[in-house]
Amino acid sequence: MCGIVGYNGELDAKEILLKGLEKLEYRGYDSAGIAVRNDEGITVFKEKGRIADLRTAVDDDVDATIGIGHTRWATHGVPNQLNAHPHQSATGRYTLVHNGVIENYHLLQKAYLKGIKMQSDTDTEVIVQLVDLFAKEGLSTVEAFRKTLSLLHGSYALALLDQEDQDTIYVAKNKSPLLVGVGDGFNVVASDAMAMLQVTDHFVELRDKEVVLVHRDKVEISTLEGTPVERKPFKAELDASDIEKGTYPHYMLKEMDEQPAVVRKIIQAYSNSEDDLTIDSNILEAIKEADRLYIIAAGTSYHAGLIGKQYFEKIAGIPVEVHISSEFGYNMPLLSEKPLFIFISQSGETADSRQVLVRVKEELGYPALTITNVPGSTLSREADYTLLLHAGPEIAVASTKAYVAQVAVLSIAAYVAGKAKGKEIDFDLKQELAIAANGIQTMVDSKEELEQIAEDYLKIARNAFFIGRNMDFYVSSEGALKLKEISYIQAEGFAGGELKHGTIALIEEGTPVFALATQEQVSLNIRGNVKEVVARGANACIISMEGIEEEGDRFVIPKVHQLLTPLVSVVPLQLISYYAALHRRCDVDKPRNLAKSVTVE
Ligand code: F6R
Repeated sequence: MCGIVGYNGELDAKEILLKGLEKLEYRGYDSAGIAVRNDEGITVFKEKGRIADLRTAVDDDVDATIGIGHTRWATHGVPNQLNAHPHQSATGRYTLVHNGVIENYHLLQKAYLKGIKMQSDTDTEVIVQLVDLFAKEGLSTVEAFRKTLSLLHGSYALALLDQEDQDTIYVAKNKSPLLVGVGDGFNVVASDAMAMLQVTDHFVELRDKEVVLVHRDKVEISTLEGTPVERKPFKAELDASDIEKGTYPHYMLKEMDEQPAVVRKIIQAYSNSEDDLTIDSNILEAIKEADRLYIIAAGTSYHAGLIGKQYFEKIAGIPVEVHISSEFGYNMPLLSEKPLFIFISQSGETADSRQVLVRVKEELGYPALTITNVPGSTLSREADYTLLLHAGPEIAVASTKAYVAQVAVLSIAAYVAGKAKGKEIDFDLKQELAIAANGIQTMVDSKEELEQIAEDYLKIARNAFFIGRNMDFYVSSEGALKLKEISYIQAEGFAGGELKHGTIALIEEGTPVFALATQEQVSLNIRGNVKEVVARGANACIISMEGIEEEGDRFVIPKVHQLLTPLVSVVPLQLISYYAALHRRCDVDKPRNLAKSVTVE
């Protein structure tokens, strides 16, 4: 993870770097730093904690127009000031920020840097020391940088400053995201375009292992071997206001509120001129041709994938397997003859998913489709096809609107495929999605009630259970993930029928159990499971659906199509988690130990 920025221009670099890092804080927030270069040399400021802590440590009097910055999610070495980036070489000549993991850093250290005393516990420091070593041996900085890159195994996005060169940021990437932004009289570097929208909306995509020299008035790209590369900038279709919190106290609340609009936008984006739902004809062909779909994803996206399986199997009659991406590499199932791999990823950068994609494409040669919120993201670029989520930037670490968007897009893909395969489909998905969007609106308008539920059930809870059957089981798993990641209450999602096979032993007097009862055919069974836990002292909160509600249910969601209940029933669980986290004074948007975009395996 981690986020990096760089600026080379005419304005105050400190402020641009700090503002950029604030936008990248979602990528990691346990320490941060910047390095700026002026006539006096390079000055480094770094702090444990958030960008706000770094801001207070930065000396306003240091004027500079070139610099680099970093916000960290620790992989090697605890989060402290010493391990915070930027890192400097022993001579002080080179200063570096890095996002990624260098797998062979120990070997490199042993082979080349025996005599050098390392100042940190990071893998990053090896890179900057190597550049310095090779420069001391007589190579120019760019040659030393190239030689170092050729030795690295692992992932990296790098920005390097040279004390002896006031007009260059040396940049390279491998597997970690990195863009160069271009402007009039300045150029910038960022892990994510959002960080530099403050100065430009024109960016150049970088490819793995290219070497890039970012000067004030030009950008030079070449291959690792030194062949020059010409590449045109693209315009980032991002609106700076999309990434502002506005009057909201938290991004998460804003993003939950955006969910009805996201579903409506998806309906529009996937409708053709005849007003029918549609997807790109090549993607449709790829789905139709496949004898089995393999959905690969992590976390919340994996939970959406489980629902996607139901859609493809029930609506389109296509068999589906859903796999956690970090497990797939060594637990690969026997594949069918004509598989299509579907990667679901909000960020499009998740390293666990990407390593599967690389294997699927490079080793196995199978087709791959990425469903992502970020056009141009690594998973999108490297797959054959992309379906976009159209959810707008999701900044809060806990995913909400992207999950809803994933479920909606999966339903459309399955529906369109089912129609194309001539399946008998007895409902109009477009109309049902519009009803679901209204249902989500009712949910986000029920904040007071949901805040009260959070208070009644979770104020003093140590743990909580979420149960459901059928579609409700998958939503329960997502509800539990939301609660634990932002409120730190230990929570698990279970299939209602499975609880009695062991986990029910954990139910004590007052244990909160949230039971989803939106699936008509199993509504009685889940209510039976609720009776079992109540008999053992649980404090049960039944969330049911209009039409199948019963007296005593604590919350009722509006009636929607049976297959689309996840779009609506997840929203009260998101809001309950949000309020539980607020009551506990947790940092809702930036929960501890997490980062939005997980670019390490
Ligand atoms: C939880 C959450 C994570 C992500 C997971 C995958 O709220 O956001 O579990 O879903 O890290 O991320 P993407 O979807 O970007 O691949």
